[in-house]
Amino acid sequence: MPTQNPEALDDGPTLHIWGGQPLAGHVQISGAKNSVLAIMAAALLCPDHCRLRNVPNLTDIARMNQVLEALGIGVNYQNGVLDLDTHHLTTSKAPYDLVSKLRASFFIIGSLVARLGTARVPLPGGCAIGARPVDLHVRGLQTLGAQVRIEHGIVHADVPGGKLKGGKIYLDYPSVGATETLIMAATLAEGETTIENAAQEPEVSDLANFCRAMGARIRGAGTNTITISGVPRLHAVDYSIIPDRIEAGTFLVAGAITQSEISLSPVIPDHLSPVIAKLRDMGSDVVQDTVNSLRIIPNRRVATDIETLPYPGFPTDMQAQFMALMTLSEGNSVITETVFENRLRHVAELVRMGADIRLKGHNAIIQGVPFLSGAPVMATDLRASAALVLAGLAAQGETVVKGLHHLDRGYDNLEAKLRGLGAKLERVNPTVME
Ligand code: UD1
Repeated sequence: MPTQNPEALDDGPTLHIWGGQPLAGHVQISGAKNSVLAIMAAALLCPDHCRLRNVPNLTDIARMNQVLEALGIGVNYQNGVLDLDTHHLTTSKAPYDLVSKLRASFFIIGSLVARLGTARVPLPGGCAIGARPVDLHVRGLQTLGAQVRIEHGIVHADVPGGKLKGGKIYLDYPSVGATETLIMAATLAEGETTIENAAQEPEVSDLANFCRAMGARIRGAGTNTITISGVPRLHAVDYSIIPDRIEAGTFLVAGAITQSEISLSPVIPDHLSPVIAKLRDMGSDVVQDTVNSLRIIPNRRVATDIETLPYPGFPTDMQAQFMALMTLSEGNSVITETVFENRLRHVAELVRMGADIRLKGHNAIIQGVPFLSGAPVMATDLRASAALVLAGLAAQGETVVKGLHHLDRGYDNLEAKLRGLGAKLERVNPTVME
């Protein structure tokens, strides 16, 4: 019997996009979602008060707030400033209902075990883009002296004597989440920890900088070897989050796909090097106007090949958006997704809009077409939703994107920002039956 895709039943709001409008102007880039999520988990290490600035308004952040509240943390979010009163961490048990909705909330296990010597965190569960196990997190915590067992879907971590001990960790794969969990755990451990084959993503460096601002001793973040010398206690902090390189990249692609000149700030241009290089390969020019702003000057749209890799390779979080651009680029492009095993589900939706894409295992072969046609489409994950919006902006006629809960997880005010550039789009809420 054919199984029904549960997302097809989505009766939430829809985004209507009338494509073909030229865009122009400037976009303000928000703080990096993935930095904030890790930093919020790390705030649990500090028995004081943390103020985070440049925090975007996203459902993922709201969910992480709920996780922290469930642990006894006072949370106040206003106008991009998040105040966390971390004096009272009243439980080491994270609630299943919340953790199951947000993989990043699993990362609190590192802080809980470091501060309390014990943690009970549900496995984050499956996810639309792949199985995403936590074996690397668990093995690293064991190296630091935690006894870890998984019972009834809950990871139990306990430290005999209450205090983790520094150790030498080699990660089989440079996992972002595992690197972050282990930085947090090692921060309050006795002695020195090294993490080899660590993730080098800018969000890992942002987390390390945040921990350092609280008094942690961390060297090498941003390289593949990170060294953490444990300290007994951390202190209050006021910290500003880096700009979101994935949001910035998405707007650069918006310029390329609609053949529009768009500028963005604030950005850290270095964080976007692989994205800028590929945009140039594909015929656009990207110029740096000031130290923290970029402008895309579109030209032709031509094919290229992309392989997703850990940083500083091309980010998997930009793969779907580039696929949208490739559908309208002259020639044959190939995308190879190496980071997640199931992250090409947007192919079927782009094909509904007239794209010519063939899938072969982890590869998508995209033959550029002269135009896309607006169609009803379903977002299958966060970045896929952005790809469909981008395709809709360039397509002829009306595109209706469903599954907006994915979009709202990671794009702060996307519609208003696009409207500010001249896009024609509108969110329509379902009519409530009385
Ligand atoms: C983070 C980002 C996500 C991004 C990804 C890769 C956050 C909140 N999310 O996710 O946006 O797409 O990095 O850049 O920061 N793996 C294991 N065992 C583990 C951990 C991971 O096998 O213990 C595998 C995963 O299944 C995946 C690969 O490693 O295939 C990369 O995952 P990882 O880098 O851990 O991604 P996340 O931290 O989940």
